[in-house]
Amino acid sequence: MVASRRVGTCALRTWKKKSNASSATIPRIVSHHTAADTSIGLPHGWPGRRGGCDCSRARTPRRVVPDTAAIPPWDPYGSAAGDRGERRDRARVRRRRSLRRRLSLLLRRPPRRPRRRQTDLVWRLLDLRPGMEVLDLACGHGRIANRLAARGCRVTGLDSSQPFLDRARTTAGELGVTVDYVHGDMRRLPWTGRFDRVVSWFTAFGYFDDADDRRVLAQAAAALKPGGRLALDLNNYAAVVRTYQASTVVERDGDLLIDRYRLDLLTSRNVVKRTVVRDGRVRHVPYSVRMFTFPELRDRLLDAGFAAVRGFGADGGPLTMDSRRMIVVAER
Ligand SMILES: C[S@@+](CC[C@H](N)C(=O)[O-])C[C@H]1O[C@@H](n2cnc3c(N)ncnc32)[C@H](O)[C@@H]1O
Repeated sequence: MVASRRVGTCALRTWKKKSNASSATIPRIVSHHTAADTSIGLPHGWPGRRGGCDCSRARTPRRVVPDTAAIPPWDPYGSAAGDRGERRDRARVRRRRSLRRRLSLLLRRPPRRPRRRQTDLVWRLLDLRPGMEVLDLACGHGRIANRLAARGCRVTGLDSSQPFLDRARTTAGELGVTVDYVHGDMRRLPWTGRFDRVVSWFTAFGYFDDADDRRVLAQAAAALKPGGRLALDLNNYAAVVRTYQASTVVERDGDLLIDRYRLDLLTSRNVVKRTVVRDGRVRHVPYSVRMFTFPELRDRLLDAGFAAVRGFGADGGPLTMDSRRMIVVAER
């Protein structure tokens, strides 16, 4: 089904009307531009908050394909589904840049450079130096691994997603850096005493039951040289509870990522019903991730063989109720 672009109308409302999608499919976000309604948990900086919804510029999804095929939860835009080529066409890149520019103007601040900032933080907290052997555990599409390699580290990236690894290798080639990308499972690492540093960034830990999460930490400890360091970057539980939102919506180039959350206090797991609308296709991707307080994670790290554990906030400063992220650095 092809729906034309409509200016001044919420893309989702148009999509719903044309596709006859049931209102139960995505009930919350349809109302998100009708008023200054923040109860549905729009992310900070969402243009609607400043009185103008950007969705009118978004491409209306063309068709609705109920697709419950498993794509990984950490693959919000479905790159693992295999159509990166189309996504990379130049027109779309231009649109993305233009959206960023427009948002920057709207928010009166220069475009952010999150990747470089993250790499700076990893560099500082892990006290990295050129020539060090670094393992990026669950490296995704290599955004940290490639940049650490560009700064002179000898980097290995491990991930269970082949499409992510392919993309990481391509980017490494474009950047002219060498990274050893390895397909594998973080619960079973093939290295002992090999690395100076291990980095696990952007909530790449807490996917499994307690025994397997502990196994991941033990494997990371074993992969490190004596005196080596591990850095984990996770959600800050306290801040998540304090600012808990029933749902969030993220729009990128007309594609949508809708998360509806439930915090299970008996298991400390954030249970997420994720809906991805990409190129008019709808996918439902449920997943859950364990939330750790600092003492809980510190005790697990000590049990896994680490000797000293420190906690930081998102920018490497003190960990507080307001810290968006919790970064934990452990030494072997
Ligand atoms: C939230 S992403 C983080 C990616 C990357 N660290 C970053 O900062 O962009 C989580 C990653 O964990 C990977 N992953 C999930 N289960 C895994 C496993 N059992 N072994 C290795 N990687 C896994 C996913 O493929 C995904 O790339």
